Amino acid sequence: LTKVILVKLRDRSYPLYIRADLLKQAGPLIRKAVPSRKVALVSTSFLFKTYGRSLMKSLQSSGFCADPILVPDGEIHKNEKTLFNILQKTASLRLQRDSGLISLGGGVLCDLAGLAAALYMRGIAYVQCPTTLLAQVDASIGGKTAIDFYGIKNLVGCFYQPKAVLIDPSVLVTLSERHFKTGLAELIKHGIIQDERLFRKIENNTDAILSRDLNLLPGLIARSCEIKAGIVSEDEREVGKRAWLNYGHTLGHALESYYGYRLLTHGEAIAYGMCFAAKLSAHLGVCSPSIAQRQVRLLKQVKLLRKIPRFNLEIVFRKMFLDKKARSGRILFILTRKLGLVTIKKNIPSSTIFSVLTQFQSETRKMP
Ligand SMILES: NC(=O)c1ccc[n+]([C@@H]2O[C@H](COP(=O)([O-])OP(=O)(O)OC[C@H]3O[C@@H](n4cnc5c(N)ncnc54)[C@H](O)[C@@H]3O)[C@@H](O)[C@H]2O)c1
Ligand SMILES: [Zn+2]
Repeated sequence: LTKVILVKLRDRSYPLYIRADLLKQAGPLIRKAVPSRKVALVSTSFLFKTYGRSLMKSLQSSGFCADPILVPDGEIHKNEKTLFNILQKTASLRLQRDSGLISLGGGVLCDLAGLAAALYMRGIAYVQCPTTLLAQVDASIGGKTAIDFYGIKNLVGCFYQPKAVLIDPSVLVTLSERHFKTGLAELIKHGIIQDERLFRKIENNTDAILSRDLNLLPGLIARSCEIKAGIVSEDEREVGKRAWLNYGHTLGHALESYYGYRLLTHGEAIAYGMCFAAKLSAHLGVCSPSIAQRQVRLLKQVKLLRKIPRFNLEIVFRKMFLDKKARSGRILFILTRKLGLVTIKKNIPSSTIFSVLTQFQSETRKMP
């Protein structure tokens, strides 16, 4: 059975459909999302070959005229050049105001194609088929689109909600181990911030999850999507509780950047960030030490805490204050109260953060 979750944003509401092998039956769902029968499918050549062909077949049997737009793979191509190449193709394919743009790929493609869909003719219908775990539980929900520009990640972009998101967990079997686990970090995060049961389910099934058991993944992904969709529905523009989703991201972003975006994946970086946030929460008495330990234990258990070379405390500390979420020199911190409940703290003295970071640094030396 297909699970349907609604992102509720008044006239911009849209469904997330979740089911193994969904892409083979995508045509009828995309018919509901796109006004005309003309669409283009943005993907990489690997993903197009592996999953795009059957998606195209389904589109064609639903009466669509569908053309592929292939783009090079990887974050380094999430830039203005690829964006304008997509736009050039949509123009030469003569997509119209009522045509649709479909993305088939990870978070990079979601962000790129979403921005292209927003810009082309001031916005055409956009449908996402996320193919990484990170994109399925995170990047494809909430309408943030962007390219990297001027050496800064996600500097240029806009909010543009898709018309539908088609999530097919069976495509995750070909994903590399590291990319799978980077998405798992966000899934665990969703448990920590909103749902103790989800957290416990992950704790109790780590082996099955790591072996990508398709009896388990669709349910976990659906619950995780429900959590993000609920938060986004209440706070589309991140003025309030959408900030919860940044749990673990203050130190996470700082470490990612410190190691030049190469040593750690995003998920590995936020896994460290979540350990730190947990530790800080316990230090401030916001949660009990055992709640913090449970988070660290799970992140260890799924092997998200890779050994990292010693980082320079001052530099990482400074980078935390450069984070987008740091307003006027104060870091906005998301802390755990208990599993399934977080709170936003604005006035933590920087000396406290520095001293907990110092302890954390020495602990990470012994971590995995
Ligand atoms: N818009 C948002 O709200 C949001 C949220 C989180 C992250 N993001 C963005 O997402 C991006 C990261 O996304 P990502 O981690 O998915 O990276 P990615 O899109 O680069 O995908 C990772 C790699 O896996 C490959 N791949 C994708 N699906 C596959 C599959 N099923 N089988 C085999 N290989 C597959 C990709 O081609 C790529 O090489 C970043 O640019 C980030 O800024 C956006
Ligand atoms: Zn993240």
